[in-house]
Parts: sequence; C-alpha cells; structure tokens
Amino acid sequence: MRQKMKRNSIGFKLFVITVTFFVVFMSTTLIFQSTFFEKFYVNSKTKMLLSNLKKFESDYIASGRDYNFILNSLKEFQDSNNARVVVMNKNRIFNYTIISGGPDPSKDDILSAAIIRWRVMANNYNSSQPIVYVAKHPVYNTNNIVIISPMAVQNRIEDVFFVVSSLQPIGEAVSVMNQFYIYLYSGALILVIIISLIYSNMVSKPLKILNSTAMKMAELDFSAKCKIKSKDEIGNLASTLNFLSEKLSMALGELKNANKKLKADIAKERNIEKMRREFIADVSHELKTPISLIEGYGEGLKDNIVQGEERDYYLYVIIDEAQKMGKLVNDMLDLSQLDSGNYILSPQNFYIDELLLSVIKKYSNSIADKMIDMKTDIQYRNINVFADRFRIEQVITNILNNAIKHTPDNGKIAASITCSDTSVLVEIENQGEHIPDSEITKVWDKFYKVDKSRNRKAGGYGLGLAIVKKILILHKSKFGIKNTESGVKFYFTLNGKQNEEE
Ligand SMILES: Nc1ncnc2c1ncn2[C@@H]1O[C@H](COP(=O)(O)OP(=O)(O)OP(=O)(O)O)[C@@H](O)[C@H]1O
Ligand SMILES: [Mg+2]
Repeated sequence: MRQKMKRNSIGFKLFVITVTFFVVFMSTTLIFQSTFFEKFYVNSKTKMLLSNLKKFESDYIASGRDYNFILNSLKEFQDSNNARVVVMNKNRIFNYTIISGGPDPSKDDILSAAIIRWRVMANNYNSSQPIVYVAKHPVYNTNNIVIISPMAVQNRIEDVFFVVSSLQPIGEAVSVMNQFYIYLYSGALILVIIISLIYSNMVSKPLKILNSTAMKMAELDFSAKCKIKSKDEIGNLASTLNFLSEKLSMALGELKNANKKLKADIAKERNIEKMRREFIADVSHELKTPISLIEGYGEGLKDNIVQGEERDYYLYVIIDEAQKMGKLVNDMLDLSQLDSGNYILSPQNFYIDELLLSVIKKYSNSIADKMIDMKTDIQYRNINVFADRFRIEQVITNILNNAIKHTPDNGKIAASITCSDTSVLVEIENQGEHIPDSEITKVWDKFYKVDKSRNRKAGGYGLGLAIVKKILILHKSKFGIKNTESGVKFYFTLNGKQNEEE
C-alpha cells in the first residue's frame, strides 16, 4: 500500500521543489518568448533582407545598371525573400520613376507611404545608408518591415530600392505557438508531477526504513536491520546503523550479564550476612547455658552454702561447663578457619587403618562404660591414603563420638575400611535410633541437633558434623549418612592406593 506523503517529509519537499522549479522555468520561457521572440524575428529578418538586398544591388551595378536585369531578377528576389520590391530611378517622373515590374505602389498602402516618405526627404538625403522601419498597415493592422535603400553612384543617388516584407506570418506563428505552449505546458506539468512523485518516494522510502529501524532501536529492539543495499550515503548510513545496533546489542548483553552477576553477588553477600547473624545468635544461645551454670555454681561456692561432696560437685560442674565452652570456641575457630575459603590442607601419606584404630583406642573407656560391642573390619593392614592426617582424625573422632553417643548400652558399633583401585571407603555404623529422613541432610548444618534436649546432656553443640562436612569437601570426598536396619551409618571416601604389607 502506498503511504501518504506527509507535509514535512523530504519526499514532499523534493516534490514541491521540482514542481515549483518546473513551473517557474516554463513560465519564464513563455514570457520570454511572447515578449522577445517577435523582436528577435524582426531583427534577423531585417538583417537578412539587408544583406540580400546588398547582394542584389551589387549584381545590379555589375550588370551596368541594366534595366533588363531588374526586370529578370526582381521576381526571383521577391519570392526568395517573401518581399515586395519597387525600384525607382532618378531622372524620370517626380525625379524618381518606378522601373521595376513589381507590385503597383498605388495599390500598396505601405509601399506608397514609403515612396511618399522618401520624396519628402530625398533632397536632403546624401547617404547611401538604408532607412529601416516597421510600419503598421492602417486597415489590416499587420506589421511590415520597410527598407528604403538609396544607391549612390559617385556620391550621387541614382536608384532607390523600396522593400516591404510583411510580418503577418510570424505574428500568426507566435499566437499558434502560444496555444501550443499551453498544451505542452499542461502535459509536461502532469508528467513532471508524476515523475517527481515517483522519485520523491524513491528518496524518502529508504529514509522511512532507516527511521523505523532507529525507532525500534530506541525501544531496545535490536533484531530489526535496515535492508538497504544501495552504495550511496543512505546505504552507508543504513550499514552504520546496523553496526551501531549490533554494538549496542552486545554492550547491552554484557551489561545485563554484569547486572545478573551483580545481583547474584548481592544475594550471596546477603546470604552470608544472614548466616553470620544466625551464627552469632546460635553461639550466644549456646554460651548462655554454661555461663549461667558457671555463675550460679560459682556464687553457690562463694556463699559457702555447700560443703564436702556437694562442693566437689559444684566445682566439677564449673570445670565441665568451662571445658564445654572451650570445646565450643575451638570448634568455632575450626569452622571459621575451614569456612574462610582459602584454607589449605596439608596432605600426606599415612595409614588410614592405623589412624582409625588409634581413635577407637582413645575412646575405649567410653565404649567400655556403655558396654558397647566395638567391631572393626579392615581389608588390609597399612592402607595408605593421601590426605590431611590431622583433619581426617577430626572426622573419625566426630563420627565415632556421635556413634558412641547414640548407641544404647550394650549396643554395637561396626567400623570398616574397604579399598578399591583408587580410593578407600571408611564406614562407621552404630546401632540406635534412625535419623528422620527429613533431617538427614540438615545434620550437616552448624548448630543443628535432631533432639535438642538430649543433646544438651550429651554435651553437643551441633558443630561436629558441620566440621566433618567442610573437611570432607576440601578432600573432594564422597560422603553421606544412611539409616540402616538397626541404626545409622556414616561413610566417606579418601584418595589412596593399596600398600603392600610391610
Ligand atoms: N550416629 C548418629 N545417630 C543418630 N543421630 C546422629 C548421629 N550422629 C549425629 N546425629 C544427629 O546429628 C546431629 C548433629 O551432629 P553433630 O555431631 O553435628 O552435633 P552434636 O554431636 O550434637 O554436637 P557436637 O558434635 O558439636 O558435640 C546430632 O545432634 C544428632 O541429632
Ligand atoms: Mg557430634
């Protein structure tokens, strides 16, 4: 569909300029022609007549001013110049006699007027300069060029030529031409309007495309491209616009990505901040109980309200609570160290079976107290692993400590080590209550305890498994908890290789 041209569009301006230019040009031509064409014609006709007359006169002189020459050649001259000619000779009637066989001056108003004019001025006229003027016919109102050309022989005027040429044909031609011009003018105007409409559209169409693309870009839609293939300035502008669009799209993409990353960073930062606050709340909560116990029992001692065995118990509680606080502080230090993100392990080769047995040995008293049946199933002796020995000892200690805590009296604990080609699997299973499935992933969180009340008595803060998790992640270990038929099993893997027996 053809779009309507807007009044302030370039297409419309081009159209108006072209049509105006054409109208001005054609009008000027018309005015010029109607005012100057006739004058120009008269001038050139006069010049032509004069020069032909000169030639005729010289031929006449060459013939020895032969009367017969005039008679023979005058008709030819008249026809070829579209003129009426009369030649007068001096020494005849009225001093001047008509010698030509041309038109009868008495029947030709213009000619007879010219002859009268000459007779009046003849005595005072000594030059052979021709007299030229334009005379209007009194009746027909047509213009005529009149030439009176005296011919001097030895400075005496002998013959006079009267030449009259009608301007009627040119007047007619001009008026016909003016009519013709009106048709030409109207036809050309229609043609110019059509052509200028077409080319205005040709110029403004790519500009419209450019504009709509730029508008889309302004709305951040970079999918639109200018499909203008021309090699001119508009084509250049189109490809520049496409380039700009690409660059903007890229920059915007980068900006969006950066923004996404920033948002993620902010969320992460907020999360860390939240965790920190929770951590402080948890720590202060955990410290409240031992502090109030120490305070209470300490005051009891100060007031001397207890004696003997009871006094020892008071002292025991104070020392025990202080030890628990010490453990809490140590665990927190450990956690924050492992949490820092740049904690570096100190791995070394050691025998994991040896380590496991030594930890079990440390706990032999507690195991004996609860009459626990402690079993070990180790595939080989001296199973080498490459890990941070101190941290792995912490892992085993925490898991075994939990196992002992959660095993009922006379229960069973089974520890095993199994080797594969590249890794070593350590499992510690204890009889006891299951960890509810909904809690099984949460036990790794710091300060998380399944049974809060029982834990207080057992002296746990819920930090042990959080530390274990950090250490095992640093070792890139595969680890987890499973509820088994009779209890709970903790397992983890370590990198290692089987060592031949020593
Ligand atoms: N072998 C297990 N059997 C049943 N529940 C367990 C066992 N090990 C851990 N849990 C549960 O997981 C929780 C978190 O254990 P974690 O070792 O982190 O803390 P804790 O033992 O309570 O205190 P801490 O280890 O800091 O002295 C425990 O409170 C307990 O409820
Ligand atoms: Mg524990």
